[in-house]
Amino acid sequence: MNKPILSVKNICVDYTSNNSFLFPWEKNIIFRAVENISFEISEGKTLGIVGETGSGKSTIAKAIINILKISSGKIYFKNNKISNLDEKSMRKYRKEIQMIFQDPLASLNPRMNVGEIISEPLTTHYPKLNYKEVKKKVKEIMENVGLLPNQINRYPHEFSGGQCQRIGIARSLILKPKFIICDEPVSSLDVSIQAQVINLLKELQQKFKLTYLFITHDLNIARHMSDNIMVLNLGKMIEINNSYEVFNNPKNDYTKKLISSIPKI
Ligand SMILES: Nc1ncnc2c1ncn2[C@@H]1O[C@H](COP(=O)(O)OP(=O)(O)OP(=O)(O)O)[C@@H](O)[C@H]1O
Ligand SMILES: [Mg+2]
Repeated sequence: MNKPILSVKNICVDYTSNNSFLFPWEKNIIFRAVENISFEISEGKTLGIVGETGSGKSTIAKAIINILKISSGKIYFKNNKISNLDEKSMRKYRKEIQMIFQDPLASLNPRMNVGEIISEPLTTHYPKLNYKEVKKKVKEIMENVGLLPNQINRYPHEFSGGQCQRIGIARSLILKPKFIICDEPVSSLDVSIQAQVINLLKELQQKFKLTYLFITHDLNIARHMSDNIMVLNLGKMIEINNSYEVFNNPKNDYTKKLISSIPKI
């Protein structure tokens, strides 16, 4: 049970900008967004990444799913190197690695109904599946995420924020992935809805034996969700440890400051 499913080794990610507003003669300005980041996630576990805005959390997520190239280091999924693969070689891992996004409504195509949205990954990867099978799988997964199967023909704007996030979760689960990156999955939701979605994610993790990389700036949510936590600041890893240690025995001053800034009720 404790094999690492994902290993990230010393990765750096750079953004290059081609023109500078202030210094138009400067070309190809390189900005290092994350530097020397290393971590592992064991099967069935959750690693939380916490850090302020701009600390590089989403950059790490995008590097893992290979929509951003890394400048150095390596990323392994189940012992296979997946960093900087070309799209064709990456395709077989796309089924196993999925992502849940921050803004549920914006991440859903407004012109597609729920059935089309949820089934799209399935019909893309398995074009030979027949309509009946697809519909059955979609209805099954809708039930698993707490949506009513008879809502299959409705459009995203007809749902609440929490329901839209459930649609996004259903879409990410339809291919039966092993590993899911959740990038601030509840931060755009109302506090009362946040708990429901968090609990759903925990329940689904048990049911489908999922491994999560859980990105959040909310330390309470990170603590609730994660087995281990990595603290990130300005693209650098500050501390990584099990959740209990990070909260009760933080080693680093920055971590201590972050923890002391959590509002107490
Ligand atoms: N496409 C881009 N081009 C240039 N710089 C970028 C780009 N995307 C992000 N950055 C910069 O990289 C750094 C890390 O950004 P990133 O989006 O990873 O932060 P984050 O921790 O996810 O923040 P947030 O909590 O606001 O989502 C920031 O300084 C950001 O300005
Ligand atoms: Mg982000």
